[in-house]
Amino acid sequence: AIRSVYPKTLIVKLSPNVTSIADIAKAAEAEGADSVSLINTIMGMSIDVERRRPHLSTITGGLSGPAVRPVAVRMVWQVAKAVKIPVIGLGGIMNGRDAIEFMLAGATAVEIGTANFIDPAVTMRVIDYMEDYCSRHGINDINEIIGEI
Ligand SMILES: Cc1cc2nc3c(=O)[nH]c(=O)nc-3n(C[C@H](O)[C@H](O)[C@H](O)COP(=O)(O)O)c2cc1C
Repeated sequence: AIRSVYPKTLIVKLSPNVTSIADIAKAAEAEGADSVSLINTIMGMSIDVERRRPHLSTITGGLSGPAVRPVAVRMVWQVAKAVKIPVIGLGGIMNGRDAIEFMLAGATAVEIGTANFIDPAVTMRVIDYMEDYCSRHGINDINEIIGEI
C-alpha cells in the first residue's frame, strides 16, 4: 500500500516478533520495497517482585540492546539468504566488532540505536574499528565480507 503512493526510497523495518521473518522480507521485496531493515525490538516483560508490579506501565515493552543481538544476527542471516534487495542490520550493536558480525551475516549496512544512549559518539568508534579491522585482515573493500557466512 505504501509503495503505490510513495515513489522514493522505501526501507521496510521488520519486527522479530514473527514465526518466519524471511517470509515477511520476501513479501516486502515482492511488493516493491527497496530494502529491509531488521530487527525492531523483541517484545518483553519484567516484574518488580518486591512491589509485585510490572516494571513498565504498559506491562510489556520492546527489548533492545546487546541481549537481542544473537537473535538479530540470526534473522539478518536468514533474510539475506532469502531476498535480493539490500538488508540493513541492527539489534544490539554496541561496537565495531558487532557491526562486522552483522556484515558477515549479510547486512550491507548497519544501524545503531540503544548504544547511542550510552555513548553518543559510538558510531565514530564503530567506523574507526571497521577501518582497523579491514587493514588487519587485508580487506580492501568492506563489501568483500558481506554475507561471507
Ligand atoms: C527508545 C527507543 C525508541 C525506539 N523507537 C522506535 C520507533 O519509533 N520505530 C522503530 O521502528 N523502532 C524503534 N526502536 C527500535 C530501534 O530502532 C531498533 O530496531 C532496536 O532498538 C534494536 O536496535 P538497538 O539494539 O541498536 O537499539 C526504538 C528503540 C528504542 C530503544
